[in-house]
Amino acid sequence: MPTIKRTVLVTGASSGIGRAVARLLLQQGHTVIGTSRDCRKFTHPMERFSSVQLDLSQLTELPQKIRDLQQTFPDLDAVVFSAGVGQFGSVEEFSYTQIEALMTINFTSQVFLTKALLPALKRKANSDLIFIGSEAALKGSRKGAVYCASKFALRGFTQALREECGKSNVRVCLINPGMVKTPFFEPLNFEPGDHETNSILPEDVAKAVSYVLSSRPQIVIDEINLSPLNKVVKFK
Ligand SMILES: NC(=O)c1ccc[n+]([C@@H]2O[C@H](COP(=O)([O-])OP(=O)(O)OC[C@H]3O[C@@H](n4cnc5c(N)ncnc54)[C@H](OP(=O)(O)O)[C@@H]3O)[C@@H](O)[C@H]2O)c1
Repeated sequence: MPTIKRTVLVTGASSGIGRAVARLLLQQGHTVIGTSRDCRKFTHPMERFSSVQLDLSQLTELPQKIRDLQQTFPDLDAVVFSAGVGQFGSVEEFSYTQIEALMTINFTSQVFLTKALLPALKRKANSDLIFIGSEAALKGSRKGAVYCASKFALRGFTQALREECGKSNVRVCLINPGMVKTPFFEPLNFEPGDHETNSILPEDVAKAVSYVLSSRPQIVIDEINLSPLNKVVKFK
């Protein structure tokens, strides 16, 4: 049976997991709309790829951005929420502004985007909302208070949303990776160990996204957890 071609919005398509997802879906013949705060990062024009500038920290702009986007791309029927940031430290090390900013990007903006996207997605025959959570959505860890809180919140949101969408044709999935080898770690003081068993590749997460998208429309893959074979954290 030929794979149904989808029109997929990928947030954070300029780097890491989002970039790998965009590439794989394009290879598979889907149409991709990739977002970044700076679309000049998309240097190679590609067939079936369009870019859209989107800054998740600008919450009040998001509803209008989504209205414009859905007008330009009326076939949009799937979203991969990959944009997000990592910031780690004890609560006392975070400023109030940093706490608010991290929750805004990793959680509140995802809720705003979902609310804006849902009415049109519910009118499609089938649609998918795929969120990139984290192992930090499953277990709190030292120095992870705010990051884990943002990902736990996202997990609660997706579980409730999955119930909310059960009667429509909107499927909701949360993918929780452990450490993935991406630029996520560049501003941090730690990264996965050097051995290939110490990290997941962004392409592995992209394959999980593709699996969810191509699954039989009558089933929902609620959640996927994937982690490196041997978790090793290396401090820089
Ligand atoms: N890497 C890991 O080990 C790992 C593990 C578990 C979960 N995750 C999660 O996976 C997701 C993707 O992470 P990654 O590893 O791919 O990181 P990454 O390589 O640093 O990519 C992050 C992406 O988020 C976008 N972004 C950041 N701030 C944004 C903002 N204010 N507005 C709009 N876009 C913004 C960036 O786009 P621009 O800078 O171009 O705007 C970039 O495309 C995140 O949610 C992260 O929490 C990562």
